[in-house]
Amino acid sequence: MLAEINFTSIFGRFHPALVHLPIGILLLAFLFELLSKTKRYKKLKAAVRPALFFGTLSAVLAAFSGYILSNEGAYDDELLSQHKWMGFATAGLAFLIFLFSSKSFALPKKDQRKAVLVLFFPLVILLMVTGHWGSSLTRGEDYLFDSGTDSLDAANTQKIATQRQPIENVSEAKVYDDIIQPLLKEKCYACHSSKKQKGQLRLDEIELIKKGGKHGEIFTAGEPKESEIIKRTSLSIEEKGHMPPRREAQLTSSDIELIKWWITEGASFEKKVKELSKREELTNYLESLSSTQTVNSWLPIEEVAVADGAAIEELRSLGVSIGSVGGKSNYLSISFAGKKEVEQRDLELLKILSPQVIELNLARTTVSDDDLILISELKELRRLHVEHTLITDSGISHLQGCNNLFYLNLVETNVSDEALKIVNNIRSLKELYLFNTKVTKDGLQKLNSQIKMDTGGYELPFLATDTLIFGRK
Ligand code: HEC
Repeated sequence: MLAEINFTSIFGRFHPALVHLPIGILLLAFLFELLSKTKRYKKLKAAVRPALFFGTLSAVLAAFSGYILSNEGAYDDELLSQHKWMGFATAGLAFLIFLFSSKSFALPKKDQRKAVLVLFFPLVILLMVTGHWGSSLTRGEDYLFDSGTDSLDAANTQKIATQRQPIENVSEAKVYDDIIQPLLKEKCYACHSSKKQKGQLRLDEIELIKKGGKHGEIFTAGEPKESEIIKRTSLSIEEKGHMPPRREAQLTSSDIELIKWWITEGASFEKKVKELSKREELTNYLESLSSTQTVNSWLPIEEVAVADGAAIEELRSLGVSIGSVGGKSNYLSISFAGKKEVEQRDLELLKILSPQVIELNLARTTVSDDDLILISELKELRRLHVEHTLITDSGISHLQGCNNLFYLNLVETNVSDEALKIVNNIRSLKELYLFNTKVTKDGLQKLNSQIKMDTGGYELPFLATDTLIFGRK
């Protein structure tokens, strides 16, 4: 079912490769046409038409794949529509020249040849300009002069930013400085800051937030419903103009609720949490800012007692590999990679180690739904691999109490939309892998927006560089 969603979008992703064809082939047709005017290369005249044919065909394919890609969002609107229309115009003009080059066309032969030659000039210009807009779109406007580190930077800041520091005393914290600003930094700065100003909007300085973007102010104090920032972030993810764009880390519904609250209460850049009127729905959210639980870091902040040595020894003797995490820590990472069978005794031993186990790899083992009852007692578990197993929705239902789990790999299992409903309640979960499962497109849409999921369908290794840049702007 996932394949169905991805088919067209995969075609879209061929666009960066396809666009090189019409440029090359049509320029060659032009060259043939020019050379055929000379005595020496007169014979090349015969090559003009086939070159025009393949050039036009590839231009149409490039335009079509570009059109599909354009619907995926995350691009600057104005540049995009200019590029889109030029792409169509290029394909159209190439087709027209192809028609004129036909023998059976209605015009006198001489006029036809003239038309072909004359029309080639605007075509070449169109090819150049369209190509230039296109590279501006994917690589940023100054691509030609850029060192090219930009897209990597964006990816890195995202990683670093997710390790938000816990706030010690939330009611004394400043609403903007301590809560909203870090959120914008994490989810919006990649495109709206000193580095890039998509929609002519910068969110990294108070004065610039107040100033707004291309369409003016983005918030009106006291009027959340009228505020562009709320409208954009509340749009459904499929809709055009939704912020952040579809492929980026999304705001959670509580994040949006928080910004709404701040605007309703006057959008002060000075006030503290305790100075705004209390909002019941946000109590939990605000409290969670002080705890380390929602922080995405790999290791728990507090150290744990040393694990039971006998249990470790016995598990090892059964073929399970056990390592400590992060060098000196007492937390454990346990892997069944060398042992296909998961047996009752293994599970009992795991239970003894439950305070320490934060990563468990059961991929490609015989682990069953019932075995996961015991796994649910690993309260510190952060990463769980059960890919390539026979796990179904009923197994996943046991994970409900795993309040620290942030990574779950379900690739090649029998889970369906039902499992997503359960997974949605694991508040700590951030990364979910679902390639080759029974999950449907509908199911995915209901998935909590804080969860970054990967259905695997878009991996095209041979276009690695193009897909890396794709969607990062
Ligand atoms: C990957 C890039 C990207 C990220 C991340 C991003 N935006 Fe945008 N944003 C854009 C682009 C492109 C536009 C212009 C196109 C449009 O208006 O949809 C835009 C436009 C806007 C506008 C309209 C400005 C105007 O006046 O036209 C607002 C408001 C906005 N973004 C808010 C946000 C917020 C809030 C976040 C973070 C939660 C965010 N954006 C994250 C790319 C991004």
